Amino acid sequence: MSETNAPLRIAIAGLGTVGAGVIRLLNTNRDLIAARAGRAIEVVAVSARDRSLDRGVDLSGYAWEDDMTELAGREDVDVMVELVGGSDGPALAASRAALKAGKGLVTANKAMIAHHGLALAELAEAAGVPLKFEAAVAGGIPVVKGLREGTSANALTKVYGILNGTCNYILSEMEETGADFSETLAEAQKLGYAEADPTFDIEGIDAAHKLAILAAIGFGAKVDFAAVRVSGITQVRAADIAQADALGFVIRLIAEADAHEGKLLQRVRPCLVAKDHPLAPVDGPTNAVVAEGNFSGRLLFQGAGAGDGPTASAVVADLIDIARSEVSAPFSMPVAQLQALPPAEPGHRMERTYIRFTVNDRPGVLAEITAAMRDADVSIESLIQKGRAHEGGEVLVAMVTHEGPEANVRRAIDLLDGSDSLTGDPLVLPILPN
Ligand code: NDP
Ligand code: HSE
Repeated sequence: MSETNAPLRIAIAGLGTVGAGVIRLLNTNRDLIAARAGRAIEVVAVSARDRSLDRGVDLSGYAWEDDMTELAGREDVDVMVELVGGSDGPALAASRAALKAGKGLVTANKAMIAHHGLALAELAEAAGVPLKFEAAVAGGIPVVKGLREGTSANALTKVYGILNGTCNYILSEMEETGADFSETLAEAQKLGYAEADPTFDIEGIDAAHKLAILAAIGFGAKVDFAAVRVSGITQVRAADIAQADALGFVIRLIAEADAHEGKLLQRVRPCLVAKDHPLAPVDGPTNAVVAEGNFSGRLLFQGAGAGDGPTASAVVADLIDIARSEVSAPFSMPVAQLQALPPAEPGHRMERTYIRFTVNDRPGVLAEITAAMRDADVSIESLIQKGRAHEGGEVLVAMVTHEGPEANVRRAIDLLDGSDSLTGDPLVLPILPN
């Protein structure tokens, strides 16, 4: 690393939405950043795939490297900023190379941190250099710093929230406009919110990456992405959103983690959220994280979870911390002290549930469904059948259960498996407690 008052020299790999945003931010707020950091932050070199692309920022003052691993090893660089993406491949190779060469690493790459964060943290520890990834979770919201530093005196009981801007945009747009799913996804992609592979967004994987990182920091646990139970939003229909609305709820993709009796439960799933819950008004690409500490009480972090400006803001905040030499352990404590917490089984957890069936409109169908509920010891709070199908057609039956063990609902659904009364798989959505 260079001398304390010398500029912090950075290399940027990836000049897409976030990379170009970082350059724009460094240029726009140059003096303010230098004043806050105590020294200038200077881009020395950059790398992307296509040198000829116009990215809306002037790159003429920076060296260009075709190979981002070469970029990582440059003598004139203190910190590499990885904004390429992908859990493995060139991003990982270059990130490892940077740390091994004694450079600090700043990344927005949640996939890489969720899969390889511990190994990268070990490399950073061994080299005595910083590894920072504020932008990897919830875009512009300083929630990594919030959990790692702001709540560090607390035992956390729970961390949960809305961690994917694309899904939140889709669900709230569908709610607002009644537009269909694929049309709204295309719009989110156009706005730069979605991952290179948008199935990562809509299947809940991106939120799971972020949750695994937050859970590690919040509970002092080793990152365990494989243990996250994930379901995405592709099964949610406009009819479910309308039904939820009529019942006093919105639908949001919720990522939640808690640690009890030495076990960690991490899951991502669409949930019904009561309209008076603090997460209900969170719409568009906004993210929000709730952390419950044993002394802090409930904290709510909220802001833009995606997009060039907010994400660049988080990346540059990490660079300012490094320039100031304010660097703490990436996961809040040294890797050797992080615990390997086994995954918790959720079956005994109690919750209220929304269940949507699509059924053939004929006598006896409701009796069959309610018999399965009775046999699995699921208590029904309300039940609505919507519409009246023409001969032999399909109708929607929506049900809300009283609070009960999750495993019972699963058993009821299993009992109905193969029934010719059902025209498709039921959708089971938990109701988030207030
Ligand atoms: P983009 O797809 O917009 O940009 C990716 C960049 O990486 C492009 O400039 C591309 O080059 C470059 N690239 C791809 N492969 C290589 C390679 N082998 N060598 C060098 N450069 C390469 O992605 P985003 O900017 O949206 O995302 C970047 C990272 O930030 C990802 O990890 C993403 O998950 C994360 N992130 C994104 C957010 C967002 O709102 N977009 C929010 C939070 C995190 P070229 O332009 O020449 O094709
Ligand atoms: N694809 C991500 C999202 C980008 O939609 O939230 C921000 O991490």
